[in-house]
Amino acid sequence: MFGDHYIERENGETIFSVDPRPIKFGIGACQELAYELKRLGMSHVAIFTDAITVELAPCSLALQSLDEAGIRYQVYSNTRVEPTDRSFADATQFLGSNDFDGLVSIGGGSVIDTAKAANLLHKYPADLLDYVNKPIGKGKPVPGKLMPHIACPTTSGTGSESTGVAVFDLVDQHVKTGISSALMKPDMGIIDPSFTWALPPLVTAATGFDVLTHAIESYTAVPFTKRKKKSDPALRPPYQGANPHSDSGSLEAVRLASQYLLRSVNSPHDKEARSAMMYAATLAGISFGNAGVHVPHGMSYSVAGMIRDYYPEGWPQDHSMCPHGISVVVNAPAAFRFTGQAMPERHWQAAQALGADMTGVTPDRGGDAVAQRLVDLMRACGIPNGLSALNYTEADIPGLVDGAYKQQRLLVNSPREVTKADLADLYRDAMSYW
Ligand SMILES: NC(=O)c1ccc[n+]([C@@H]2O[C@H](COP(=O)([O-])OP(=O)(O)OC[C@H]3O[C@@H](n4cnc5c(N)ncnc54)[C@H](O)[C@@H]3O)[C@@H](O)[C@H]2O)c1
Ligand SMILES: [Fe+2]
Repeated sequence: MFGDHYIERENGETIFSVDPRPIKFGIGACQELAYELKRLGMSHVAIFTDAITVELAPCSLALQSLDEAGIRYQVYSNTRVEPTDRSFADATQFLGSNDFDGLVSIGGGSVIDTAKAANLLHKYPADLLDYVNKPIGKGKPVPGKLMPHIACPTTSGTGSESTGVAVFDLVDQHVKTGISSALMKPDMGIIDPSFTWALPPLVTAATGFDVLTHAIESYTAVPFTKRKKKSDPALRPPYQGANPHSDSGSLEAVRLASQYLLRSVNSPHDKEARSAMMYAATLAGISFGNAGVHVPHGMSYSVAGMIRDYYPEGWPQDHSMCPHGISVVVNAPAAFRFTGQAMPERHWQAAQALGADMTGVTPDRGGDAVAQRLVDLMRACGIPNGLSALNYTEADIPGLVDGAYKQQRLLVNSPREVTKADLADLYRDAMSYW
């Protein structure tokens, strides 16, 4: 392979694959939804959304386009924000209630992931955990093709329209986990930045940090050439490690999001900033969808799963929850200081793309520079100051570690091996930053 980062290694992987789906991007793109549905042969669709988004312009504009084209649909707006195994089951029931020939999801990652999971469980009924990666689930592969699905994101965050991942909270185990398969990728993403015009400031900030962490984690993930070579292509995981394709998208997403995140939080009517964040989210989604994320995301799943008495402004107030972007970024400075020691030069490049002040920063201090710049951005955007601001204390660390250690699918992607003792140190470091 080319470049110092991707040198051939004994028994190392020599192949990476990119399996993109079409996207349509731009202000007004949603008005072409009906055209795309017809092109994919859909005439009776299940519309997935949530209780807030169903009342907003993105949904009404999309439905208007279907009405005008005479496409039949039924709306499911019961999606739980930060979905659970139970809410996935409810959505699956809805999908079975009629003979739909396709799905449209209009919402953030919660909605898009719910549509993906319902599509899978409806077509190939099984215990949800059968499809979840080991050790939490049985790691059974998705058996085959699903119904066509067009995803229309309304947050500039997850990039879920381009990934084969559906994340949920496994309620009884107090941990988040996910299903991952290329077969769950939506058939198309229609990405209309105008869908985010009304996104509240803290939701804009949290989802924006999801973009930044996706992009930095993909760029600093273990190179795919360091993963073990797979003799059977079917065994090559969707998260392959950093590769030349993911690198370019990740770095550009870091540049865009670091330049435009604060502007879109502070000036909700700044259409340039919001459009740039939406494009950054898409680019980061495409990149992490084949490279994978690592420690900050791995640590986030127990932070979200064990949350108590936390009701952030801008999200539904009917249950305690930690929004995904917040649960990730509170770990990120601690995690990048740690991973930076394994691949300092990659972290240095990421810090530069993040707009960090690199004067006098030596190449071995790249991880620290990423961490400091993230802390400055978090403060400026109103993100809680570490785990303590989410009501976590030292006594929670063993539980947080147990939940994170189960996320081996993500931790094996770390450029530096992560032990349980390391995770405990990282959560301690993440308690507060300023
Ligand atoms: N599949 C993937 O690849 C992937 C990647 C990252 C995260 N996730 C998952 O996605 C979920 C988070 O998704 P998210 O961060 O996009 O947020 P979300 O879907 O949870 O939505 C956050 C809040 O914003 C509201 N909202 C959505 N769009 C809005 C709009 N345009 N205007 C006003 N309010 C709006 C929602 O109603 C909700 O209250 C988590 O479960 C996370 O684990 C999935
Ligand atoms: Fe994420």
